Amino acid sequence: MDTTTYKTAVTEAFNSAAASYDRMGVEFFTPMGRRLVERVNPQPGERVLDVGCGRGACLFPAAERVGATGRVLGIDIAEAMVAAAREEAGRQSLSTVDVRVMDGEHPDLPARSFNAVTGSYSVIFFPNAPAALARYADLLDDEGRLGFTSPVFTPDTFPFLPPVFTELIPRELLRNLPPQWQPAELTRRFNSWLSDPADLVRTLADAGFRAADVVDEEVAMVAESGTAWVDWSHTQGMRLLWQHLPERESGDLRDRLIAALDAMRVGDGPLTIQVPVRYVTATVAR
Ligand SMILES: C[S@@+](CC[C@H](N)C(=O)[O-])C[C@H]1O[C@@H](n2cnc3c(N)ncnc32)[C@H](O)[C@@H]1O
Repeated sequence: MDTTTYKTAVTEAFNSAAASYDRMGVEFFTPMGRRLVERVNPQPGERVLDVGCGRGACLFPAAERVGATGRVLGIDIAEAMVAAAREEAGRQSLSTVDVRVMDGEHPDLPARSFNAVTGSYSVIFFPNAPAALARYADLLDDEGRLGFTSPVFTPDTFPFLPPVFTELIPRELLRNLPPQWQPAELTRRFNSWLSDPADLVRTLADAGFRAADVVDEEVAMVAESGTAWVDWSHTQGMRLLWQHLPERESGDLRDRLIAALDAMRVGDGPLTIQVPVRYVTATVAR
């Protein structure tokens, strides 16, 4: 798939997910974004760029930290995400937050205009993320910090899903996916520079960063119920699978997942799935 077709597909997918994104009885992106901001640690008065800001999982925690004298700019390729984040900034009367539609892989912004760049579960979607990281080094002022998150990819799982799903989603179902969405191809595309921390540190050094830190931590994904999780999964990477399953297999998988996930609940309470997340931070080398 060429880059333009790929980016159009990503934009359409996130535009259609935006209305319900992270608002479907499953909590995941919000705690992950907050934790990333904690690790990057923006200070009062600083300027923060959040790349692939979505509805603002990093944007709003960053705005809290930089306070009234700081500035936070969120950019995203999906207009509907930008509109939702802008509306939230308006609802909170945050005049320090600006949100714009922009390709985060090629940000059209002045050099040295930020103290921190964040990107939670976003830079992983760029066709050439290492090249984008080098552009972020140029955008950062002296001592500027970069922080991003990615899934911890493990062999045998459908990419983007935590290991608990390996047994719940039979591998033969994955054969329904078109070639470009086969797990091996997704793994090659998303995983090539991320899976080995030593590769990541080297990539960051080549992009103009030092003091790279790669830490894997679990985020507690909390879903109201098995049904809530399955409905949510239709708005995430797993929609690729749902879209390509024949009706009967799709119905069977839905029932099986709901039963297995509901069995993890305590009474009528929510279910918690521990999801490994990779937090990467670094400082511009200058
Ligand atoms: C999984 S969401 C994460 C959103 C947000 N950072 C969060 O943690 O909730 C990925 C986001 O990256 C955005 N994205 C993907 N490719 C992009 C690109 N080339 N430039 C800017 N944003 C992009 C998507 O539109 C989407 O909003």
